[in-house]
Amino acid sequence: MSIHKYLEELTGYRKKFQQEKQNKDIKANTLTARERLLYLLDKDSFMEIGAFVSSGWENTGNIQQTPGREGVITGSGTIGKRPVYVFSQDFSVMGGSLGELHALKICNIMDLALKTGTPIIGLNESGGARIQEGINALTGYGNILNRNTLASGVIPQISVIMGACAGGAVYSPALTDFIFMISEKSRMFITGPQVVKSATGEDVNSQELGGAITHNQLSGVAHFIAQDEKACLDMVRKLCSYLPSNNTEPPPSTIAAPPLESVEKILDAVPTQPNKQYDVRNLLNFITDGSEILEVHRYFAQNVVTCFARLNGKTVGIVASQPCHLAGCLDIHVSDKIARFVRFCDCFNIPLITFVDVPGFLPGTSQEHGGIIRHGAKIIYAYAEATVPKIAVILRKAYGGGYMAMSGRSLGVDIVFAWPTAEIAVMGPEAAASVIYRDKIKNSNNPGDILYKKTKEYREKFANPYLACARGIVDDVIDPRETRDRLIHSLDILANKHDSRPFKKHGNIPL
Ligand code: HXC
Repeated sequence: MSIHKYLEELTGYRKKFQQEKQNKDIKANTLTARERLLYLLDKDSFMEIGAFVSSGWENTGNIQQTPGREGVITGSGTIGKRPVYVFSQDFSVMGGSLGELHALKICNIMDLALKTGTPIIGLNESGGARIQEGINALTGYGNILNRNTLASGVIPQISVIMGACAGGAVYSPALTDFIFMISEKSRMFITGPQVVKSATGEDVNSQELGGAITHNQLSGVAHFIAQDEKACLDMVRKLCSYLPSNNTEPPPSTIAAPPLESVEKILDAVPTQPNKQYDVRNLLNFITDGSEILEVHRYFAQNVVTCFARLNGKTVGIVASQPCHLAGCLDIHVSDKIARFVRFCDCFNIPLITFVDVPGFLPGTSQEHGGIIRHGAKIIYAYAEATVPKIAVILRKAYGGGYMAMSGRSLGVDIVFAWPTAEIAVMGPEAAASVIYRDKIKNSNNPGDILYKKTKEYREKFANPYLACARGIVDDVIDPRETRDRLIHSLDILANKHDSRPFKKHGNIPL
């Protein structure tokens, strides 16, 4: 047979295998599985791997009978000219469900990603384990979940929920670093509304049960939300621009850009009255390159902002108290949010900057009974464990456990700055005065007056940054206008930081 005949045969097979069925939701302007990959990746960079994987060849010798590409397209490409591995599940093929060979294709590229230190991005839309393949499908999931765990902390793993995902199709994303969802389109649940109804009698629609708002705002399962498919994939590209390819590399640098805000106005960004609310994002506008941030968990546990940004062209992870939500208190959800973010940054060599204005942990039975002790300990653990450069800026309040969890020098924070408005103390002045002078206040004819005087005395004596400076737990009190320059300088002098920890198999973070 001439080479041309072989090529003709190849072209025929390719044509059959590359046939794309349209995803069902054509009205919602849904891209096909392949179109999604092509949109996500740099132009002309996609190379398919495993295009002919199919059970049809050996079972029937007839490729017509094979489910199209086993319901998933796998391969590699680039984002911002840096390599990534990708897969995209095709819901039009048996609901994107995962059979043995579907899993094998994903495992192949996961292995390549891990061996080459390259991020992996999964575009998920799948009903979970393919029911017809029984135990083989479950084994397939086991193989993926095992690789997700091995890859954790070695390469960034990103999951995008493009439509409905159930069963194993949510547990694999849950093991990855970041989950993106699309408003009114994505759904994630371990079982859908029908099963919920038959098991519990509860009537719930699929958006309420596991839509983008539910998981971005209530459960914290998802980290990012976008309006439509393209906006979501654009956001994935943006996230990639901040991240290194693996845990042995520094994050990529870009050309430095000044903030858009004039530095003088920073003096108005944080009110001097300790209890007055403000949005800490306004402050970040004076700090970050181009006044840009990429918020992680934007709608979950909003009492703290966690975001990626750049200072002088270099990626940093920022954790900032958010006084306009719950006064910036630490609570159960925010503990998970901070600990997870800090640990991601530590895995991937991203320096941490913490802006502190924290009255403490949120008191009350709902927090205590929900396990604030167990959850709050995660923040302490994550910061203490992190060996990347750690810098804190205390803006106003830094009281008690909140202070220690977010900026305690003794937890290994390398450089601590305080603004002149900082109050670093065991607790707020009024609470402190009412404990120390309890008897005096109780026995006085004018308890309000005594409390006021003692609160004032306490504030003047203890609630300032200078005492902490005198004990060496704050390195300097700075003019707010110097903040960005001091941070950039600190990042430079900490760039070669090496910090080791005692040998262990792994720690036992309180979960
Ligand atoms: C085989 C499946 C499938 C599955 C969906 N389909 N899920 N086929 N195995 N797991 C098929 C449907 O039969 C249908 O085929 C097509 O995909 C589209 O599904 P629809 O139900 O019509 O779509 P929709 O209404 O959008 O609902 C999507 C869905 C629903 C919410 C995902 O299909 C669903 O609830 N599926 C079952 C989910 C589930 O319970 N999975 C758990 C598996 S166990 P036709 O031919 O009609 O187009 C698991 C354990 C892993 O994953 C363990 C790891 C830890």
